[in-house]
Amino acid sequence: MLKTVRRTNMCGSLRETHIGQQVILQGWAHKARDLGGVAFIDLRDRQGVVQITVDERSPQAAKDMAATVRQEFVLEIEGEVVARTKPNSRIPTGAVEVVATSVKILAGTQPLPFALGGDAQEETRLTWRFLDLRRPELQSKLIARHRAAQATRSYLDSLEFVEVETPILNRSTPEGARDYLVPSRVHPGQWYALPQSPQLFKQILMVAGMDRYFQITKCFRDEDLRSDRQPEFTQIDIEMSFPTSDTVMEVAEGVAQAMWQKVRGEDIGEVPRLTYTEAISRFGVDNPDLRFGMELSEITDVVADSESTVIQGALQDGGIAKAFAVPSGATQSRKVLDKWTEFVRRYGMGGLMWAKVGAEGWSGSAKKLFTDEEKATIQETIGAKEGDLVLIGMGQAGHVNPGLGRLRRHIGLQLDMAVPGQFAFCWITEFPAFEWDEDSKRWTSTHHPFTAPRASDIALFGTGRENEIMTDAYDLVCNGYEIAGGSIRIHDSEVQSKVFTALGIDEEEAETRFGFLLNALRHGAPPHGGIAFGFDRSVMLLTDTDNIRDVIAFPKTTKAQDLMAQAPSVVDPEQLAELHVKNTK
Ligand code: AMO
Repeated sequence: MLKTVRRTNMCGSLRETHIGQQVILQGWAHKARDLGGVAFIDLRDRQGVVQITVDERSPQAAKDMAATVRQEFVLEIEGEVVARTKPNSRIPTGAVEVVATSVKILAGTQPLPFALGGDAQEETRLTWRFLDLRRPELQSKLIARHRAAQATRSYLDSLEFVEVETPILNRSTPEGARDYLVPSRVHPGQWYALPQSPQLFKQILMVAGMDRYFQITKCFRDEDLRSDRQPEFTQIDIEMSFPTSDTVMEVAEGVAQAMWQKVRGEDIGEVPRLTYTEAISRFGVDNPDLRFGMELSEITDVVADSESTVIQGALQDGGIAKAFAVPSGATQSRKVLDKWTEFVRRYGMGGLMWAKVGAEGWSGSAKKLFTDEEKATIQETIGAKEGDLVLIGMGQAGHVNPGLGRLRRHIGLQLDMAVPGQFAFCWITEFPAFEWDEDSKRWTSTHHPFTAPRASDIALFGTGRENEIMTDAYDLVCNGYEIAGGSIRIHDSEVQSKVFTALGIDEEEAETRFGFLLNALRHGAPPHGGIAFGFDRSVMLLTDTDNIRDVIAFPKTTKAQDLMAQAPSVVDPEQLAELHVKNTK
């Protein structure tokens, strides 16, 4: 215990070994019950709750004070630890209680806006985050986050990685999202961009000879938010010189192992590897949840000669057909199946064909679309038995794969197929360098423009076969979340220019936006590579939540607002004028 602190013990630490000791405790009244003559206060601090009893053994002044205590008052209690006559096995301190000799109120509280232990709306809780954070569940998540960060630092330090800070007021780094911009007062009309990641700086640190770098740092991306995305989030950012992709993956597995060991006392085990192509083929997505089966199978060949106009319509223009079986899924109601159909429509699928496998064959929307022979082959291909549900999707691969892939995970979670506390890690490797963007009709980077193309594919630049160029990139996935992503980088300015050209960035623009990187690459750049973990996402998994806001002390809502601090907010017109910015609204 720190010497300057009056308290002698933490509330949550008291056990039978403390019986007979005089203690001073400080904390919040978790519950206060005055039964007339006897008062019970559950006193809470970060370590837990202990029962304070104020009764005939306590002085009158303590009794009078205890009668005025309300929930969430801040108290200082002096007293003796005694054995409880009726131990409470549900709390760790349940064998003891403290008989108060003094009750001091250090602070009162206005009426509470919501019941702390109740299920108040998240908006209310975020507005009153300082009250919400008093909940032991949230405190334990922040403590787990701290431990994961400590484990990371200590592991990377043991491998001689050096933590280096990089600028927040910066130039834009393209990671595929919109930038947050900060106007410059000193340079009228010029703007800083907050980093979407420290990508360029970490590469430049390699050119600068730092050899092994890491940083636990904030990144900023103005993108559509979801339960696993924040506009301001934290990465464990790593870069090293002279590695192979295996070296970086080994370091990343070491980071995950260190965090899982420290927080949960568990090993992450062997991490299987799937190529991107294999992941899309078997699971429809590049972040597959491997806690359950239900793999997708392509059945395009099986139905290619179908006489059904529905099927022929779906397969035209190179459409594909894929299917999977939901074990014991035949019990699902029409309502649930309609919801699943709505679900896949979000990914551009026209609908979902389904059939329940019964003793008399198929029933459901797919029944009339297929011949008996086709049904038998589909069932065999996907391993559907009597009592199972067959789900089939047809259309363009770009719709069918994500549609069925996301539905597969949705069903797995909805039907509780994942064992609680189970972690299924995998690596996804060998990504295509570019993806075609239908909206802008041009190639975009699958990862980012600094990812090295495979040496054997460099000849494909400028041939119109850019879609065949593969990279040495790797994503670490756990339970359907992409928790880290990285690659071997381009360390040759010529290759870097080819990539910019493929992305439609001309030489002049490349020099303006990334001149400092290109320049560095022209002055003795070592081969290098790295990875970045989504730290918040990792902590979500470590602490069994699917809400990223639970693991961030002061998170933003899905509308990117901080409801407690009320950010963003309107600013003084004078402040805007000083920044040479005019409000158009
Ligand atoms: P990437 O963009 O894949 O790679 O980001 C790395 C990891 O960060 C997490 N992540 C997010 N977490 C919460 N909210 C967000 N908005 C968000 N966006 C991303 C994900 C992701 O895997 N510079 C490269 C890394 C590299 O190449 O070394 C980068 O930032 O878990």
